Amino acid sequence: MKKGVMRPGHVQLRVLDIEEALAHYRDLLGLIEVERDDQGRAYLKGWTEVDKFSVVLRQADEPGMDFMGFKVLNNTVLEKLESDLTAYGCAVEHIAAGELSGCGRRIRFEAPTGHRFELYAEKEQPGKWGVSNVNPEAWPMDLKGMKATRFDHCLLYGPNVEDTYALFRDVLGFDLAEQVVDPEGNRVAAFLTASMKAHDVAFIDCPEPGKFHHASFYLETWESVLRAADLISMTNTSIDIGPTRHGLTHGQTIYFFDPSGNRNEVFCGGDYHYPDHEPVTWKAEDLGKAIFYHDRVLNERFLSVLT
Ligand SMILES: [Fe+2]
Repeated sequence: MKKGVMRPGHVQLRVLDIEEALAHYRDLLGLIEVERDDQGRAYLKGWTEVDKFSVVLRQADEPGMDFMGFKVLNNTVLEKLESDLTAYGCAVEHIAAGELSGCGRRIRFEAPTGHRFELYAEKEQPGKWGVSNVNPEAWPMDLKGMKATRFDHCLLYGPNVEDTYALFRDVLGFDLAEQVVDPEGNRVAAFLTASMKAHDVAFIDCPEPGKFHHASFYLETWESVLRAADLISMTNTSIDIGPTRHGLTHGQTIYFFDPSGNRNEVFCGGDYHYPDHEPVTWKAEDLGKAIFYHDRVLNERFLSVLT
């Protein structure tokens, strides 16, 4: 959090049918439905998240990600980062407080990979869902589906990964936790963190800008990842791969798709990162093992199915 960026705060996803999407994110993943705004967008959150929402679903003609937002420490930090972004040559767009219900003013910029990111300092903070902040119980009793605890990170595909890494490092203070390097020494994937987590956002090189690979949600245990796999089968949900383990970050994972074709991940475990850690390097020629540690081969879908 060297420059005051705290955490991934929200992701806005495009879905083809809002009711189908809600059934998926609320009833299967177990996110809490918080609100519907006057644009018809649905707001959700994981039960451990203290802020009002972390996932926004917007009905549209095409799936994909509209933007990902990071919460920063306070308004002083927000103003500093805004001027730093501008000085770096990044065009900054202002979005008024309240455009997302309960969220303060946001500043938006586009990364060289073609993805839109936002920074904001304020969001309504009702606290964890279903448990008090005083003598809290272990978990709320009436959680649904996979009981996802929080929105954790996004993996995004696009060009100019190196320039995007430089922007996140130099302006926003992210660290490189893990990377994939090809035999010529080019960095083809960058896993970036603003915290102790293995990644808050990750980028993989791809010629097409602005592509969305997955949004990931944290579960508590490997047992809950296996239970998520059962739920995916019970509901005939389209599965990508898993349950398995990643080489990169060593998280235990399963991938599947929402009804609009956006990929989701639920995972548990994973490595941690301190600012003095050397980045972990995976060789591109061992990408199969890096992504799917057990199978050691990539399925074609992982590289090619993007929204
Ligand atoms: Fe992931």
